[in-house]
Amino acid sequence: MALIMKDSFGRILDYIRISVTDRCNFRCRYCMPEEGIDWIPHDKIMSYEDIRFLVSVLADMGVKRIRFTGGEPFVRRGFLQFITSIRREFRSIAVAVTTNGSLLERYADEIATLGLQSLNVSLDTLDPEKFAEITRTGELERVLRGIALVSAAGVPLKINTVVIRGFNLEEVPALIRYAAQNGALLRFIEFMPLDADVWSQRQYVPANEVISMFPGPGSWLCAQGVDQNGADTPNGPARYLRNSDTGQEVGIISAVSDHFCHTCNRLRVTSTGEIRPCLFSNAGISIIESLKDHDADAVREAFLMAVKHKPHEGGTGLPVANADDPGVPLRPIACVDKEEPPVGSGCSTAERHMSRIGG
Ligand code: 5AD
Ligand code: SF4
Repeated sequence: MALIMKDSFGRILDYIRISVTDRCNFRCRYCMPEEGIDWIPHDKIMSYEDIRFLVSVLADMGVKRIRFTGGEPFVRRGFLQFITSIRREFRSIAVAVTTNGSLLERYADEIATLGLQSLNVSLDTLDPEKFAEITRTGELERVLRGIALVSAAGVPLKINTVVIRGFNLEEVPALIRYAAQNGALLRFIEFMPLDADVWSQRQYVPANEVISMFPGPGSWLCAQGVDQNGADTPNGPARYLRNSDTGQEVGIISAVSDHFCHTCNRLRVTSTGEIRPCLFSNAGISIIESLKDHDADAVREAFLMAVKHKPHEGGTGLPVANADDPGVPLRPIACVDKEEPPVGSGCSTAERHMSRIGG
């Protein structure tokens, strides 16, 4: 019988994100320095066999959806074949992938055969110069061609846009049009203070201000809970607005202005095989050895422990995962705008690259 993961606040955790690599061919300014970061050596990264075993344990625990992320997952050799085998072996699990879009053009035909529940492409701007500026190494045209190809092939697409003041706020209407033209569900993401060095209050744009930029402001109504692929997302952090004239839906992920932690149903597994209950904390539990040993009981136990300790609002009671990076106390997501964080929370804005954690 499936062991359902339910945390101490009644949140059902049936959705897991797994990072398959920390490596990326982009160098987004809000994610990593120009020279990149020190890539984790291959022997410290979960092998595909480790991940396959992990998925088998999760399937037995009632997990229904897995999103594979990076870094950039398509840069890892054998990723397409790996997804194909996972799809074949675990029919009950819906598979999604998050990508920077750079390799969609090359792999569009193969991606179209994967039967993904959703492919999330990060796209912050439609201006080629700005795109080159924010990604440092990316080429907008290549990404747009890739999106057009996978869209034409019928892959369910989402586009994620991080909104940054002074950079792309004015592009909100153009991005909404672009998403409609490409049959993609667009979600705007508030710029999160993951890395204290690059985030600034000045660049942060609250969700309400993003919504105020939508074209035809009176026509957008709340459309909560269900995304365009029909997937029920009652616990997801995105809320959706629907245009009553065109029917287009646009999502907003207000990680900073909304205290949505209490509805968060995410657990992440890093590419090094560490369970991270909260994006805003360095706390985690390593399962890499248990995966290598094919010790299903130990993996299950680690997840149940992570679930038990999943914070209600930022912060966790777990030990800090990396002794070299103890995290700077204490500033949870829910109090970014407040003077003082609540005592006892374990979150921090210490350096945490998405490429390491897995978007
Ligand atoms: N704030 C918001 N979103 C971020 N991402 C990376 N860093 C941040 C941040 N500081 C996004 C990427 C991608 C997703 C995986 O995470 O742009 O869309
Ligand atoms: Fe950019 Fe994502 Fe790569 Fe980070 S992991 S550099 S956000 S594409």
